[in-house]
Amino acid sequence: SALQTIIVERRDRVGLITLNRPKSLNALTAQVAVETLAALKAFDVDDQVRAIVITGSTRAFAAGADIAEMAEKPFTSFYMSDFLAPWDEIKTISKPIIAAVGGFALGGGCELAMLCDFIIASEDAQFGQPEIKLGILPGMGGSQRLTHAIGKSLAMDLILTGRSIGAAEAKALGLVARVVPNTDLLQVALEAAHTIAAYNAPAVKMAKEAVNRAFEVPLSEGVRHERLLFQAAFATEGQKEGMNAFVNKRAPVFRHR
Ligand code: HXC
Repeated sequence: SALQTIIVERRDRVGLITLNRPKSLNALTAQVAVETLAALKAFDVDDQVRAIVITGSTRAFAAGADIAEMAEKPFTSFYMSDFLAPWDEIKTISKPIIAAVGGFALGGGCELAMLCDFIIASEDAQFGQPEIKLGILPGMGGSQRLTHAIGKSLAMDLILTGRSIGAAEAKALGLVARVVPNTDLLQVALEAAHTIAAYNAPAVKMAKEAVNRAFEVPLSEGVRHERLLFQAAFATEGQKEGMNAFVNKRAPVFRHR
């Protein structure tokens, strides 16, 4: 069936997902979640794809969960369908996901960006969790991931007052990795994805897994997990290629297996 809410493309070894509900500033409906998760899972099992970029429009990455869709829903409907749960499945995707954020990343939009592995923002990007203004609170992990990203005091400030911050402040706080001129956003994000896509794919997968451990286990366990993955990297063809290329002063060519 044809996609209604996103555009899915492949650029060489990079999978590109563009949120495509411009009239509502890419408000996230349940359909957006279904289509986005299906696209991510398809990229994750596609040997041709090594990294993924999620982006929106120049005006909005996503202005939040779709308020019109949610407004009259009763608790039992949310509970029985486990509303918003599909988004959490993003953490099961093993390939790197870059959020290319321009314009508004509010509420669920900010949370979607934080569900990605890192954020590249354009100068006009705005991040915030304005749910409190609607009588609710973040529901796609924002209270947890924003707190991990920028600390308690600022997370409380943003979540309790509903104010948003610009790209420069988000960069200074460590919420975003890079800020680039508006017109360069997609190009820079795709270049970063292509860079990752050219590396030893098992090592890329291991590196993502290792960093994510930092959020789940005590330091000593995370370090031990990393060390085992590091040792496992020596079972990959790419390790032999990468080190042989360095020793012989040539460029490595990773065969991705
Ligand atoms: C549904 C939305 C929407 C949303 C914008 N629109 N955000 N529709 N859900 N989250 C629609 C508007 O209704 C409008 O439709 C069109 O997009 C353009 O928006 P405007 O408001 O006219 O644009 P502007 O004046 O530039 O203001 C932009 C804005 C504002 C500041 C981003 O739209 C806004 O405050 N949006 C809501 C942000 C928000 O509260 N997000 C959190 C949602 S709750 P029409 O038809 O009038 O042209 C949430 C819950 C998280 O995310 C929990 C888990 C997901």
